Amino acid sequence: MAHHLTFVKKFVQKPFQTGAVLPSSVLLAKMMVKDVGIEKMKAVVEIGPGTGAITPTILSSIPDSAEFVAVEIDPDLYTIFQQRFPDVKSYNACASTISDIMRKENISELDAVFSGLPWASFPEELQTKLLDAICDVLPPNGLFATFAYIQGTWLPAGQRFKKVLRKRFSKVEKSPVVWRNIPPAFIYKCFI
Ligand SMILES: C[S@@+](CC[C@H](N)C(=O)[O-])C[C@H]1O[C@@H](n2cnc3c(N)ncnc32)[C@H](O)[C@@H]1O
Repeated sequence: MAHHLTFVKKFVQKPFQTGAVLPSSVLLAKMMVKDVGIEKMKAVVEIGPGTGAITPTILSSIPDSAEFVAVEIDPDLYTIFQQRFPDVKSYNACASTISDIMRKENISELDAVFSGLPWASFPEELQTKLLDAICDVLPPNGLFATFAYIQGTWLPAGQRFKKVLRKRFSKVEKSPVVWRNIPPAFIYKCFI
């Protein structure tokens, strides 16, 4: 419960970076890993894990031998994340540094980037910078999965994000909406 309060506080302090009032639901986390072949993945990164709402679902879905690294920009949310997942490799850094982090961790190829970033509240330059970094580290057929709040898809930045995904990725799938998430959201599953 304490980490829910920190999340709310973060939203008030940094609404565009935090992008949500509450952590995601387990139902949304399950939708993120559904039918993407996660059980065979060898290396995955989660960007914007916040307090770790989606992390347990990813961890319980990947093979025990898979590499997993989390990258969270906010120091306070990162501290909570580290306390909750002391055995998980994690970095307090911007997701744009993903290739440096892979080098440090000796990960030569990633299967997937799972994202909790609030894309619809980002300006165009930041969307581009982060998508460049993600596309740089994904191999052909690599997966980029990210959630989107349905109200965000009506905003100009949300519309722009959708268009950019279709330009950058060869396949973009949209999951059904998870109505019991607050706010309701769906997943973009994009393949390079
Ligand atoms: C909408 S919250 C999602 C948190 C969590 N994944 C969840 O689903 O509850 C967005 C998270 O992305 C983090 N974030 C925003 N910009 C980031 C960036 N450039 N690099 C890494 N994390 C970032 C925020 O600090 C926040 O923890």
